[in-house]
Formats: sequence, C-alpha cells, structure tokens
Amino acid sequence: MPIEIKNVSYTYAEGTPFETTALKDINWKITENSMWVVLGKTGSGKTTLIQTLNGLLIPKNGEILVDGISTKDQKNDIKKIRERIGLVFQYPENQFFLPTVLEELLYAPKNFNKNISQNDILNILNLVGLNRSFLGRNPFTLSGGEMRRVAIASVLSYNPKYIVFDEPTVGLDYSGRKKYGI
Ligand SMILES: Nc1ncnc2c1ncn2[C@@H]1O[C@H](COP(=O)(O)OP(=O)(O)OP(=O)(O)O)[C@@H](O)[C@H]1O
Ligand SMILES: [Mg+2]
Repeated sequence: MPIEIKNVSYTYAEGTPFETTALKDINWKITENSMWVVLGKTGSGKTTLIQTLNGLLIPKNGEILVDGISTKDQKNDIKKIRERIGLVFQYPENQFFLPTVLEELLYAPKNFNKNISQNDILNILNLVGLNRSFLGRNPFTLSGGEMRRVAIASVLSYNPKYIVFDEPTVGLDYSGRKKYGI
C-alpha cells in the first residue's frame, strides 16, 4: 500500500501576525518500492511536508494515509505509522536524546519490539561508514558528518518500510554521498 497525501494544507501560527502557510492543497501518492525526490527552494515547505508524513505535524486540512492508516488517528495508530516511516531529520542533533551512540541505535528497535543483534549493529555502522569505536561516544560530540551517519544508522536499526531523508546530502562528504547513490 502507498503513502497518500490528500489535499493537505499546513499553516504555522494560524490566526497570529506570524501566520505562514507552508503547504497549500498538496496531493501526492508515494508508491512502494520507489524512490522520490522533492526539490524546492528554501522555505518552500519540504521539511513541513516531511514532518506531516509520520504525524509530527498534523494538517488541519486534508489527510495523510500511511498504508491506509490516517496520521490523524493519534491515539491508536501513530506508533504504527512511526514504525513504518523512518525520518532522518534535516538537523541530526534534533534527532538525538541519549548519552551514547549505542543507546541511540538500540532505542527504536526496543520501542518497536524488534530484535537487533550485536552483529546487526556492526553491519549498520559499517554501512554508514563508521566503526565500533563510535558506540561509546556521546552523539553531540560528533562532527556534523558523523552525526548525520549516526542519524541514518539509528533509522536503519529498526528497518522501517519507508525512509525519508530531509536534505539527504547535508553533512556528508563526497564519498558519503556516493555510498548512498545521492
Ligand atoms: N515552527 C515554525 N513556525 C512558523 N513558521 C515556520 C515554522 N517552521 C517553518 N516555518 C515556515 O514555513 C515555511 C516552510 O518551511 P520549511 O522548513 O518547511 O521549508 P523547507 O523547504 O524545508 O526549507 P529549507 O530548504 O530551508 O530547509 C517557511 O516560510 C518557514 O519560515
Ligand atoms: Mg527544510
């Protein structure tokens, strides 16, 4: 099943002097087993759109269905949606909240009841171009590119069905970008 974005609009600070309409009547069907790229100038609403996909932002108008589950069903289904959609934030430091890289990598699998072995962790680290010496590091002491790699690893750790990268190349050097084909 797809991710369906139906007539979605999103306005920040509605009814205040700071009111900003970031999304206006967006329709989009994201099919399985496909890769999509969204391009748009600064402030055009890319991050806002991405954050509506897994219910971080709930549009007042329109609806988002993830494999048929509406992001508006916050009470029952938001965990099911977050388990399906892994989000790599534009600013990785917004994603971290635990004192070590190892704990960051173990958090989501534990939260979603998914097994992850020591070997899985080492394979994921290898995939993002890091090694086991990073496991004991505090994520906030990493370089920007290392943070970005850990952020990607922490999403891969629970193997979500969909992965959304907000600004996929931010913080990655040439070899890092080439590794992901971007
Ligand atoms: N928390 C917020 N409160 C008020 N306005 C916001 C907020 N977040 C974003 N905006 C506004 O919404 C619009 C879209 O912002 P958004 O971050 O989605 O753009 P973007 O396409 O991701 O930009 P960039 O390429 O710079 O990352 C902008 O005009 C921005 O100023
Ligand atoms: Mg953005």
